[in-house]
Amino acid sequence: MTSSKSAAIVLAAGLGTRMKSTKPKVMHPLAGRPMVNHVIANLQTAGVEEIIAVIGPDMPALERAVAPHKTAVQVDRLGTGHAVLAAKEVVAGDEEHVLIAFGDTPLISPNTFARMIEARTHADVVVLGFRPAPPGAYGRLVTDESNALQAIVEFKDANEEERAIPLCNSGVMCVNGQKLFSLLDRITNDNAAGEYYLTDIVALAREDNLNCAVVEGNEDELLGVNSRVELARAEALIQDQLRHQAMVNGATLLDPSSTHFSFDTKLGKDVVVEPNVFFGPNVKVDDFVTIKAFSHLEDCRVGRGVTMGPYARLRPGADLKDGVKVGNFVEIKKALIEEGAKVNHLSYIGDARVGPGANIGAGTITCNYDGYFKYHTDIGAEAFIGSNTALVAPVHIGDGVNIGAGSTISKDVKTGDLSLTRAPQKNFDGWATKFRSKQEAEKAKQKK
Ligand code: UD1
Ligand code: CA
Repeated sequence: MTSSKSAAIVLAAGLGTRMKSTKPKVMHPLAGRPMVNHVIANLQTAGVEEIIAVIGPDMPALERAVAPHKTAVQVDRLGTGHAVLAAKEVVAGDEEHVLIAFGDTPLISPNTFARMIEARTHADVVVLGFRPAPPGAYGRLVTDESNALQAIVEFKDANEEERAIPLCNSGVMCVNGQKLFSLLDRITNDNAAGEYYLTDIVALAREDNLNCAVVEGNEDELLGVNSRVELARAEALIQDQLRHQAMVNGATLLDPSSTHFSFDTKLGKDVVVEPNVFFGPNVKVDDFVTIKAFSHLEDCRVGRGVTMGPYARLRPGADLKDGVKVGNFVEIKKALIEEGAKVNHLSYIGDARVGPGANIGAGTITCNYDGYFKYHTDIGAEAFIGSNTALVAPVHIGDGVNIGAGSTISKDVKTGDLSLTRAPQKNFDGWATKFRSKQEAEKAKQKK
């Protein structure tokens, strides 16, 4: 049995019917990563050692997404208290603090989780409260004269006076791990919704004379995602944070609102990002890089001093070393482009190595696929590939080779050679002039 001081139970069994989706709600991504993984990452940053997700039956993708963290399955969804009870057999049992978070409330910062754990040292039950305007149908936090928490009343069960309370329940709690399950064993479903409410543990804890406290959070952090409209709102908030962080770290975003980041995008210093650039997951950009407008990058590396775009596409496995130039309408996939090489116009480079200082002419295509398998193209240092060349892989182009424009190269070319495949050119003296005057004469005759 593992032992740890703090654990978190992340409730994620809901189907999210309002998303109108075949995937579980918490699997919808924000900044390129499922919502539930944002919650887990922020809990870990806050120092939570053990994390258990409560999921519904038949959610294998969700189970994989939260791995290596454990999951507990809640078969019938009988309420938030019932969901936490589903994790009883999975938690280690020796925790001092058990945080309860929702998988569909992805923006709560590590700092807020840490504040709750801190407050737990003075109270057995800590609830994250907030003051949304308007307070809507949230549960209300009932406090006494000294601001100590007495109970949480669900909106459905609240009277007029309770509904007038501005302080609401965000749903997040941090509970004494040695008391949580014995409190939960006592809750009933005798309420307006006929559900087992997690929130009832507050009144039960007060019956036992345990301390209950409120930590207040801000509304933006507590945005819950139930629909795609709220998903878009959460995305906008997280994108703002990521843009802010990129600029603080030393990148210039010419039009921040049109730059789309992933949760893990890394930009160096003196990076300039022009408008309308998209970063998918796992992109790392070194210092002094300029990314021109309308470029799309995912799962790739961009070395120091690279210039790319406009309209460049770096697909998974693109690895641009220092000083590389990638121009407009160039697509690069699973290819190493070594120092100072240039791929400036209208090219596809896939499953390849381009040696240092090589120059890839406009319209060069690596023909890497035969409909069944992928093959590698290797281009040596300082090679010069003429425009509109098809390189039929597997093929090796040696160092310092010249390839004539318009060639289809399917055999290796050794260091220092010229290779071209081209029908011989024939010129015909005065042919065009004669042809044109003959046709003009014919046209004039027909008009009469
Ligand atoms: C809950 C709180 C309410 C609070 C609100 C904040 C309770 C009883 N009420 O209400 O005080 O103001 O959140 O958003 O806790 N879930 C399960 N299994 C279940 C039921 C729920 O996993 O059987 C999960 C849901 O997927 C969701 C979360 O728990 O992620 C909250 O459940 P939901 O039914 O939305 O609670 P609310 O009625 O919004
Ligand atoms: Ca809810």
